[in-house]
Amino acid sequence: MTAANNAISIERSLNKKTKPAQDQLGFGIYFTDHMFVMDYSVEREWHNPRITPYQPIVLDPAAKVFHYGQTIFEGLKAYKTEDGGIQLFRPRDNFARMNRSNDRMSVPELDIDVAIAALEQLIAVDQDWIPDLPGTSLYIRPFVIATQATLGVSPSENYQFIIIMSPVGAYYPEGINPVKIHVESHYVRAVVGGVGEAKTAGNYAAALKSQQAAKEEGYTQVLWLDGTQHKYIEEVGSMNVFFKINGTVVTPALNGSILAGITRNSVIQLLKHWDVPVEERVLSIEELYEAGRNGTLEEAFGTGTAAVISPIGEMNWNGEKLVISEGVTGQLSKSIYDTLTGIQTGAVADPFGWVKK
Ligand code: COI
Repeated sequence: MTAANNAISIERSLNKKTKPAQDQLGFGIYFTDHMFVMDYSVEREWHNPRITPYQPIVLDPAAKVFHYGQTIFEGLKAYKTEDGGIQLFRPRDNFARMNRSNDRMSVPELDIDVAIAALEQLIAVDQDWIPDLPGTSLYIRPFVIATQATLGVSPSENYQFIIIMSPVGAYYPEGINPVKIHVESHYVRAVVGGVGEAKTAGNYAAALKSQQAAKEEGYTQVLWLDGTQHKYIEEVGSMNVFFKINGTVVTPALNGSILAGITRNSVIQLLKHWDVPVEERVLSIEELYEAGRNGTLEEAFGTGTAAVISPIGEMNWNGEKLVISEGVTGQLSKSIYDTLTGIQTGAVADPFGWVKK
């Protein structure tokens, strides 16, 4: 489908919502006045792209998404620059990943140019929703759901692609302050050959039980180990994870069960640009704890679109506690956060070509 042969229709909201105070946004609580919707059928492929007032969607209770979880999502952000401009961070990379998730979940591919054009039009319609207070942004949630109303276990013949948008502040109430992490030794998030590298709902639902248990123990999130040996570090919460050990930054190599984070990739590129040694490799929890015990574990942080950088100040693995970077935000974590958010908001030059104005 090309944008030319399938122009986006726009129905503007007649009931504009009251905007929340920018210092009270939280994450994913408020939604803008409009949304983008496009339908898929086997006969017509992707068709009827439209911007409508933000509203509930009506689905048959038999829609496959409810029963078999055939759905994928993305997350990216738009920012208001100091001079009043608007910029997106790596949108093409997000939609390329969306198509990789689609492929894994047997969902039909979307034309990336059409998706970006749709998003740009939606942002233009709701541009007064982009917050500009430091630390805020407009979080964009594109997703696809299987809508065919039949209970046979087979790929749906109908889908909807929807984009909703939410003005957000920090993902964790801790913001850029360190969080406490519980190492999950029993449950796993994903296995190699499964759907761990797809951004699909079930991965997040499967994580909730551990997250709840960790919360009850006073921890913000869990550190996930690999699904077969429970030995190698994979992710932290819903984020990728990095450790600075003896001057070298180490992050688990993408192995099929780890999500290929756009922020993860940006951090790796940034560290290389700064000539900071960075390694993508397997890292066992035992090696990490040994570095913690002998004083060579200097910093730890999660990376993701929502939080950008989330430093880890303390970990607990089977009762053994490890305080990292004296429980405060490490220097490298802070520099990465400042530089990435600076590039995203236009305050820092972008030598990588990540920003789309
Ligand atoms: C992110 O870190 O951007 C995520 O994927 C978390 C999101 C599910 C809220």
